[in-house]
Amino acid sequence: MAVSCWQMKLRHVLPCAVALLGIGIADAQSVSASSIPQLEKRGKATQLIVDGRPFLVLAGELTNSASSSMEYMEPYWSKLVAANMNTVLAAVTWELVEPEPGKFDFALVDGAIREARRNHLRLIFLWFGSWKNGDSTYTPLWVKKDRKQYPLFLAENGQVITYLSVFKDANWKADANAYAALMRHIREVDGEAHTVIMMQVENEVGCPGATRDQVPEAKTAFNAPVPKQLMDYMVKNKANLVSEFREYWEAAGGKTSGTWTEVFGDHPMTNEIFMAWYYALYVDKVAKAGKAEYPLPMFINVDLGESIGQYSSGGALPIKLNVWQQGAPGIDILAPDIYLPNFAEWCERYDRSGNPLWIPETRGDAANAFFAIGSHAAMGISPFGIERQADASTPLAQAYGLLGQAAPEILEAQAKGTIKAVSLNAQHPAETVQLGNYTLAFSMGRIRQPAPATTPAPVGTAAGGPGAAAQASSYAIVISTGPDDYVILGSGLQATFNGPGGSAAAVAKLEEGTYVDGRWAPGRRLNGDDIMLNYDAPNKAIKNESGQGFRLAGGAPKAIHLQIYGY
Ligand code: DGJ
Repeated sequence: MAVSCWQMKLRHVLPCAVALLGIGIADAQSVSASSIPQLEKRGKATQLIVDGRPFLVLAGELTNSASSSMEYMEPYWSKLVAANMNTVLAAVTWELVEPEPGKFDFALVDGAIREARRNHLRLIFLWFGSWKNGDSTYTPLWVKKDRKQYPLFLAENGQVITYLSVFKDANWKADANAYAALMRHIREVDGEAHTVIMMQVENEVGCPGATRDQVPEAKTAFNAPVPKQLMDYMVKNKANLVSEFREYWEAAGGKTSGTWTEVFGDHPMTNEIFMAWYYALYVDKVAKAGKAEYPLPMFINVDLGESIGQYSSGGALPIKLNVWQQGAPGIDILAPDIYLPNFAEWCERYDRSGNPLWIPETRGDAANAFFAIGSHAAMGISPFGIERQADASTPLAQAYGLLGQAAPEILEAQAKGTIKAVSLNAQHPAETVQLGNYTLAFSMGRIRQPAPATTPAPVGTAAGGPGAAAQASSYAIVISTGPDDYVILGSGLQATFNGPGGSAAAVAKLEEGTYVDGRWAPGRRLNGDDIMLNYDAPNKAIKNESGQGFRLAGGAPKAIHLQIYGY
């Protein structure tokens, strides 16, 4: 088993101490490329490598304005730690970083890094540059007021809207210049300590509805052929395109050249695909300007919706994943903000086309955290509005506590592909998992659920937005640690098991325990009443002959180590 969270923390603290609490300036040349946090394909998973080791991001995102005031944040840092977070997502805004053209102020960036280090937390900065949810409210006033130099979006009704236009070079150049200065500064103050581990470029890029910009350059681009770079990619990779995208293209005739309307049809979705391409090109230039200074992994977050008009046009919705991947190779991850109820489905739709799953915004739901990490090798998860719900007693904090302890085991299993997850609720009360030599039949059994915990709604809650009550549910991560050997982390469920073809199987050994320094530390050896699931009230759902299995009580998730034998 690999290195523990505590060892990781120690490793993190020492360089931090060396880098001076007041933020040391590292020589840019001394930052070796390999030590910079990076994404790495390890076996079946793409993982975030921090200080040479895979890192499971157990994070939370601050409300938008939190990081603009160190005083506001002061009481919250320790709460984030108590809630077992290892990483905080915090906005860095263009308006505060470059209040005057070319004059940069990184005091808030330095303050966040200093406090994160003091609390042994990592940071992911969110660059609120040209757009935040479509609008350009975070551009500096000198940009906002100079519409001639920094032109805005023109709507179909002729109205100018306060969104920077994607089609004007001055806009991306000014944004990229500021973002590059930010990345240069982060490299200077953090290139050794690696408190900052990833960057989000812009926020939920896209314009509302299925619209498209009508500035002259946009009209010209829309009536021109689909750019060769995109067309060639589509033709060459047709079989591997995301199915929604391929089907949409084929429904329009599958042409291999032509204008946007000719290739994709005269449909509002064509506007979206067109805008996606040009947003991607713009964001790519910003990201690459930043990476040229300090190449941290970079992602965009995506505003989701079920149908056209419910989300921002041009964002990296599933149908546009390939467009974004091709238009913005400088962006490493297209990351969904999953507030919609069908969490599993959205994980599935973003765990495609080589896109690693990372969820920068969602609700604080323990079951979902287990599901994403166990079923889709997610590199992490980050509920939104976290400072207002960070509390050691929440289900999320309890889940993070166990996930943090078991992180080395989980990360190894993600790489080997020996991990799965189960998520049960009243509508889906049972599920089987085939892993190793056995099939485990999970059910909610007779276990009572604890009362649902609630999380306060953050301000600015969007439609279907965050902050709703956490679900009472049953969930587990199942890791096969050998053909007959399992580690199971979970809450509120039970399981029995069978061998191949339904053959009989029973408990060889069952222990509860914890992880200490990344290693399994056994507690009670469980047997007798604790493995006989049909002891007092024969449960008709138990199909195997022995009726032996395990239970994980509801509430804070627990870990067990199970060995099975067939007979
Ligand atoms: C999604 C945005 O990306 C966040 O910045 C925040 O505005 C939340 N919505 C609020 O629901």
